[in-house]
Amino acid sequence: MTVSVFIPRDSSAVSLGADTVANSIRSEAARRGLDMKIVRNGSRGMFSHEPMVEVATGAGRIAYGPVTPADVASLFDSDFIAGREHRLRLGIADEIPWLKLQTRLTFARVGVIDPVSLDDFLLHGGYRGLERALEMRPEDVIAEVTKSGLRGRGGAGFPTGIKWKTAADAPATQKYIVCNADEGDSGTFSDRMIMEGDPFVLIEGMSIAAIAVGATHGYIYLRSEYPHAHRTLTEAIAIAYSKGSLGTNLLGSGKTFDLEIRLGAGAYICGEETAMLESIEGRRGMVRFKPPLPAIEGLFGKPTVINNVVSLATVPIILERGANFYRDFGAGNSRGTLPIQLAGNSKRPGLVETSMGVTLHEIVHDYGGGTASGKAVRAVQVGGPLGAYFPASMLDTPLDYESMAARGGILGHGGIVVFDDTVDMARMARYAMEFCAIESCGKCTPCRIGSIRGAEVIDDIINRRRMPESLEIIRDLCDTLKFGSLCLLGGLTPLPVLSALKFFPEDFGLKPADVDFIAQDLTISASGAGNTNEIA
Ligand SMILES: Cc1cc2nc3c(=O)[nH]c(=O)nc-3n(C[C@H](O)[C@H](O)[C@H](O)COP(=O)(O)O)c2cc1C
Ligand code: SF4
Repeated sequence: MTVSVFIPRDSSAVSLGADTVANSIRSEAARRGLDMKIVRNGSRGMFSHEPMVEVATGAGRIAYGPVTPADVASLFDSDFIAGREHRLRLGIADEIPWLKLQTRLTFARVGVIDPVSLDDFLLHGGYRGLERALEMRPEDVIAEVTKSGLRGRGGAGFPTGIKWKTAADAPATQKYIVCNADEGDSGTFSDRMIMEGDPFVLIEGMSIAAIAVGATHGYIYLRSEYPHAHRTLTEAIAIAYSKGSLGTNLLGSGKTFDLEIRLGAGAYICGEETAMLESIEGRRGMVRFKPPLPAIEGLFGKPTVINNVVSLATVPIILERGANFYRDFGAGNSRGTLPIQLAGNSKRPGLVETSMGVTLHEIVHDYGGGTASGKAVRAVQVGGPLGAYFPASMLDTPLDYESMAARGGILGHGGIVVFDDTVDMARMARYAMEFCAIESCGKCTPCRIGSIRGAEVIDDIINRRRMPESLEIIRDLCDTLKFGSLCLLGGLTPLPVLSALKFFPEDFGLKPADVDFIAQDLTISASGAGNTNEIA
């Protein structure tokens, strides 16, 4: 009987040697005359155990990891293809607590199936959402997505169904679906894992969006730094065309949806939706004024739905299982699950999909096991480079839109970067301004000039120059960035800066009283550092 052995092709596993391990296992099987089918699956997201090799047995898929080429001979000697004992044996993959405790809805198939096998996708429930959507009226599809409570997972958290309705209601003969796969936030990789581990679910989600709003053409805007995702997506799109699940007559419905990939050139601002549209149209990524909203006047001036990869990849399960099933997960107005990405100085980094409302502590300590260095966790940054830094004392914060906002943070794309007690938070604050200066598209003055001045003022504070005026200047500057920037690159840069100042004043040579002008929720109070030009 042919044994199936699963070795991830996901770039995180490949970077840890998965290709070499696959070659070693293939050669060793041939040398021993064993019949073996090697499946290159996506990653389950448990990076501390990658490359994680799984073997299909009657008792389920048995996992071993992390496997190196040096372990391969001993795995065969131990009869791992029958799931037998070995020092790297982790047990039945689905029963590993790190995976079992999660609620994998969007990521249900990631790490399980062969990403470029349409048959495998169908065998694991693929296209059930699209099939149901094709039986429904477009307005009912939109109502179902609205009712599910799904909000954009790209960062802004805007209700997906409302965005779709705006595009559906806009009169036009041509409409577009654009998938934002720029994934620029630090410590994030959930989009990449979907595209490398279950690309058909993204194609399915985009197809559902297309029939709901009346679009016939879609683009995936993919960052060029994702060559593996590019390869997998390209292959999946070609297969979908050849099997009639893209192009004219979508799944035999008579509807048309064409899909192509556009590669970005690597600018953070090209993840901002209007700069992305400029880039797709062949121009430099500069932010556009809003209104008009892209849903009304977007790509090539036509109504365009722009959604993040995870948002779109979540739509199929909502259509398949129904809005109520999805909205039963979550907390408050943050419904459903969130694929959280744990990175930085973490002992067990990786992807954790779980119900919204899980606390930072549960992710950083229970799943993550604290820091990789073994030192104390001092800070975490949530929501990418524009997110707030939270001190260890605030790890009780639940990960949902409202709780994060109440504490001055953002959920962003669900990335968490962990820092131990050697971090210098004054340097991190300075870096936030530098990042803004480097990535600024240059269209508006607060961001283009303010970020450069901001880095200088932080230097002044650290070096005790012009104190306390430098504190007044940083306060004014943050207000100007927040209220005067055209987009959220400039608008959110104050968050990492003010949170670093508020929660870690000692790293700037300051006392807690010096930063009293910053409230706990990171708004700036009017009674602050003696400023005469106050914005309350
Ligand atoms: C500076 C900046 C960078 C952004 N980068 C991304 C990104 O890489 N991926 C993404 O999906 N959204 C990004 N966004 C958010 C998008 O503008 C937009 O809100 C999102 O793609 C909409 O999809 P959603 O509603 O499904 O989240 C960024 C926004 C800003 C201001
Ligand atoms: S805030 Fe920065 S990135 Fe955004 S439009 Fe202004 S200059 Fe461009």
